[in-house]
Amino acid sequence: MTKETKSGSPLIELKDCTKLFPATVALDQVSFTVYPGEVHALVGENGAGKSTLVKCISGEYIMNEGELTVEGEKINLKEYNVREAQNRHIGIVHQEFQLMPEMTGIENIYVGHYSKKGPFVDWKALEARAKKLFEFLGSDVNYNVPVKSLRTADKQIIQLARALALDAKTIIFDELTAVLPEADINNIYRIIDLLRENDIGIIYISHRLDEIFDICDRYTVLMDGKHVETGDVENLTKDRLIQLISGRELTKVYPPVPDSVTEEVFLELKNLSGKGFKNINLTANRGEVVGIAGLVGAGKTELLQALFGNNPVTSGEIYIDGKKTKTPTPQVAIKKGLGLIPDERRLLGLNRVFDVQKNATLASLDKFKIANVFMNQKQETAETEKVMDQLNLKYYSLKQNINTLSGGNQQKVVVGKWIIADTELYLMDEPTRGIDVGAKSEIYYLINDLVSRGKCVILVSPELEELLGLCHKIYVMYEGEICYETERADFSQEEIMTYLLGSGKIAH
Ligand SMILES: Nc1ncnc2c1ncn2[C@@H]1O[C@H](COP(=O)(O)OP(=O)(O)OP(=O)(O)O)[C@@H](O)[C@H]1O
Ligand SMILES: [Mg+2]
Repeated sequence: MTKETKSGSPLIELKDCTKLFPATVALDQVSFTVYPGEVHALVGENGAGKSTLVKCISGEYIMNEGELTVEGEKINLKEYNVREAQNRHIGIVHQEFQLMPEMTGIENIYVGHYSKKGPFVDWKALEARAKKLFEFLGSDVNYNVPVKSLRTADKQIIQLARALALDAKTIIFDELTAVLPEADINNIYRIIDLLRENDIGIIYISHRLDEIFDICDRYTVLMDGKHVETGDVENLTKDRLIQLISGRELTKVYPPVPDSVTEEVFLELKNLSGKGFKNINLTANRGEVVGIAGLVGAGKTELLQALFGNNPVTSGEIYIDGKKTKTPTPQVAIKKGLGLIPDERRLLGLNRVFDVQKNATLASLDKFKIANVFMNQKQETAETEKVMDQLNLKYYSLKQNINTLSGGNQQKVVVGKWIIADTELYLMDEPTRGIDVGAKSEIYYLINDLVSRGKCVILVSPELEELLGLCHKIYVMYEGEICYETERADFSQEEIMTYLLGSGKIAH
């Protein structure tokens, strides 16, 4: 693949690109090229500058220094913007959704480019165009309903369709799969192959390193805004890629599982049923990492959300620290020592108008109160700093708005929030989504540290490897029920997979 592509002329040539933000050099003289028909992986730690680089190409940011050439034509940066990038056939599927939720798929796809019949929008023509486009994509997403009613994966397809509708020759995917369930990823692979066959150049950003080997032809690694290396994926090994990304050898991504499980049961669920799950019997002891495996829709997220009071419980019993607890509300849950790291951090875990510090201490305001009135700001700042440094957060000020952190660093703030709150039981719903390989490992060590200090973790993850690497015990859920339970000494990947896929029997 790459041999052919390199002989063609590049679609995109970025030369010595420098982009500055207040107190941050996000990109420092980075050069980057994309050829037709290649999938070019852009990788690096959280905050390395990946999203910034692609935004310089898509016209959202204008670089401070450097040159951009699109299809052989040097761009006048003074006149460059998103519209101009679209006119030059550059499309982007964002890390954050940039769709208008109340508008339908079609409206989102063609907004600003409607076919007109005189002064009126020609909906018939648009419908026909959309139909052709979705046929090409082999996708049956309903583009006639407001996008807010669509599943995450389908929203991604709408974003992609919008890029294609503008006749994109270069398409940028910024962490597309970070928000996609496994099942949808194969569909995306299929679409990417299709785009490649049609000579479209693709920039592919992902923290899931296996994907780089599955679908990418070339790779470029960034670190702290600097170019580290570009090469052919066929000459790359995973260990080397990890080393290039994190700048160090990560021989042990998973720490040894500590012998920390105590006899003290912290959480017990008896026949718990609610929206999306039923008859759940589960225990989590102090010092224990309890994993929940299951396919998309198995009820894992619903169960965690219910324990935190965000999703109704209809019957059954919850015991926390030995005491029977009424149906939880988030306030009660926090008081009882529960903390939730939700899977859609952008919507649920953070307050977008607050700065880093306010987000980090949102769950611990009581802790920093003096005489119930004043805030002990010194202590608040000191503790936030301590925890954020522990998590190796990349930031320049605790007062910077949360939106100015890179995606993965935002996730670290959500994790840090509960550490600051001295939470006893951490409900973690895919906590390492969108987090770079080095920071993932740091979160694994952190989980280890929490249980070694007698805390308790319930971990939901789509990656079985992660559960096998970290948990003392794993429950498997299938269609809302627990169908299998296994202890670390007996872990068998095959057996778990069997139950995960629904081939095992439901054990009552
Ligand atoms: N609008 C902004 N204002 C100020 N700083 C910003 C802004 N956008 C990004 N930055 C900073 O620029 C650096 C690069 O961020 P960028 O979002 O490009 O990282 P990334 O490689 O995409 O990371 P991730 O994998 O976490 O998404 C970070 O230090 C980030 O905090
Ligand atoms: Mg990013």
